[in-house]
This record gives sequence, C-alpha cells and structure tokens, in this order.
Amino acid sequence: MKYQLFCEDKKIKWTITTEEKFMNATMSSEETKHHPVMLNQILSIISPQHGGTFIDCTFGGGGYSQAILKFPKTKVFAIDRDKLTKKYANHLVKKFPNRFNFFQEKFSNLDKIFQENLNPKAIIFDLGLSSFQLADKNRGFSFKSKDFLNMEMGINEYSTYDVINTLDKEYLATIIRVLGEEKDARIIANKIDKYRKKSPIKNSQELALIVNDAKKNFNKYKKNPATKTFQAIRIFVNKELTELILGLIGAAKLLSNGGILIVVSFHSIEDKIVKNFFNLYSNLKKNPSRYLPIKENIPSLFEKVIKKPLIADLQEVKKNIRSRSAKLRYATRNSNSFFYPNDFKKKFINFFELENGRI
Ligand SMILES: C[S@@+](CC[C@H](N)C(=O)[O-])C[C@H]1O[C@@H](n2cnc3c(N)ncnc32)[C@H](O)[C@@H]1O
Repeated sequence: MKYQLFCEDKKIKWTITTEEKFMNATMSSEETKHHPVMLNQILSIISPQHGGTFIDCTFGGGGYSQAILKFPKTKVFAIDRDKLTKKYANHLVKKFPNRFNFFQEKFSNLDKIFQENLNPKAIIFDLGLSSFQLADKNRGFSFKSKDFLNMEMGINEYSTYDVINTLDKEYLATIIRVLGEEKDARIIANKIDKYRKKSPIKNSQELALIVNDAKKNFNKYKKNPATKTFQAIRIFVNKELTELILGLIGAAKLLSNGGILIVVSFHSIEDKIVKNFFNLYSNLKKNPSRYLPIKENIPSLFEKVIKKPLIADLQEVKKNIRSRSAKLRYATRNSNSFFYPNDFKKKFINFFELENGRI
C-alpha cells in the first residue's frame, strides 16, 4: 500500500512495511478506521525531512509518531496516559529502537519527564480521545456502553461512576454547565440525583437515557442530547483542562529558540485556552484597555503566531468526520526565558478550581 505525503517543498512517497501491516493486523476493523487528524498540515509545519527530535504528547494510535519516524534522521519521544496505547507503541520501539521512546504518563508532567537540554524541534498535542478509545465499549465513552461507567483515559483519581453517583448535586450541575456548556445543566443534575437515589447509575447507556429524559423535546436534536453532559463529565474525570494548561506551560519551558508548539483541539473551551496562551505569550498580547497606560509587557515567548486556526480540508472531513471540528494552532518559540506561568494559570483559575474540587 502506498501513501503520499505533501510536504512544503516536495512530495514524498512511502510504502507500508511488514511491521506496519502487523500493527494494523492487531487492530479490529473498527480500530483500523483511525486517521491521524490534519497530518499533512502538521508534517509541513515541522519538516521532519530535515531530521530533528520531536515530542508527540498524545501518541494514541501512533499516527503522528509513525509518520515522523518515516524520515530517517528523526527521533520521537511519545507520551500517552492510556496504558492500552502501549501495544501500538511497542511495535515502534521494536522497529526504531534508537529513534523511538514511549512514556505512559500524563503530559502535564512534560517538563519532569524530559531534561531541559532535549531541544525538541517540535512538541505536538492532538487533544481528546482517539478513535480506539471511542470505539472501545468497555471504556464507557459511547452512549451505548453497558459496561462499568468509566470514561477514564488512564492514570485517574476517580471514575465517572464515582462522580455521577456521589458528587454533590449543585457541583454536578456546575460541571455540566461550565465544562459541557449545557444550558439545561440544573435540570439534568436534578434528574440524575432523582435516579441515583433509587439505585446507583451503572453504565453509560443508563446515564444517556436519564439525560435524554431530562432534555425537553429531545427528538429534535441532531446529536444525542447527552453529548454535552458526556463531554463535561469526561473532561472532569480526566481533568482535561488542568492537563492542557500545565501541558502548554511545560512545553513552553522545554522548547528552545526555533522550536515549534502545535496544538490540535476539538472543542471551544480547549481552543479558547490555546488561543489565550499564544496571545498572552506573544506579540499579539493586547493591552486590557486603550485608556490604561501600557502595562509593562511579559516578554514574549512565541513568534509567528497564526491569528486564525487552521482547519481540515474538505477531502479530509469527508474521509474522517472527526476532523470537522479540529482547530490547529501553532507558533515558534524564541530565546526568551519563561518565568511567568502564573499569569496564564490565573486566567483559567475557574477551570482549575472546578476540576480539582474534592469529590
Ligand atoms: C486524539 S488521540 C491522538 C491520536 C494520535 N495523534 C494519532 O495519530 O494516533 C489523543 C490521545 O491523547 C491521550 N491523552 C489525552 N490527554 C492526555 C494527557 N493529559 N496526557 C497524556 N495523554 C493524553 C489519549 O489517551 C489519546 O490516546
């Protein structure tokens, strides 16, 4: 099987090798539907044909790592919190023993996993769930799952079962409203509370039906009416926003002059965080008001920040519907030192407090 890859300056072709066939053979037909989102754009930004060290913070099915390793002078350090991704990573470890390393870790620990002098050419985040996680009925991410109410990506403190069945009703409503941007949050939390008082809510199918029951006229919705509630609970259980905020800070510390930071996000809260990060630590940073004296600026850390995110082209969206909501932002690190992470943390303190409240 031949793949074609369009890079900035030339068209590169490659052939799938025996190991990759094996990697695909270990996946079920559902799993092989995995398409790395916006891969061509990412490769043209990071130019792996010129070699370099890359950090793939969200290894997943290994789509990005594998594509980068196709280029002989590259090295990839990959991270994923999900222990099930190890089976894909192991194939790359065998194939590229000197050029690939995998860490089952959370990317909030980025600056603890790697030494300061690693000098990566690019650090890449492809946020959210992989198609493997979504398709795995045992994980509880899908509305139809009848297994344990889990929704854990890996290395979690508690599961969705704990949150749904034990969290204070008011707190639950706040999570659903803020992290799911769900206007009917209170009604949904009340309904969940009513059901769990009779008996614990055990699986995702049950939870989806309860939320559907709470939403008025749920037949008029194009998506499952439980979509926003599921998003909120999943974000909370995995502390996804805390992870993102700390991950971006870690990446900015680790990158040196010329290093590129790339983030692909899939919902508005994530994109808002990424956009704010780049604005705050770049020349795009605005003065809060034109009537105020210009504040002494935090030194900028990033250059060449794109103002509008890149999106997937129509061809990709047709092939992979998940890419429809992808937003890619990137920027290039300069040589200034990073001393001001609290300015960024403070901006999103509400997410920190919400995700880190005790259950
Ligand atoms: C969208 S998938 C990545 C797909 C990958 N780019 C590919 O081409 O196969 C996201 C992956 O990131 C992982 N992940 C999400 N949050 C993480 C975190 N905070 N730390 C480490 N891994 C994380 C998930 O477990 C999932 O496997």
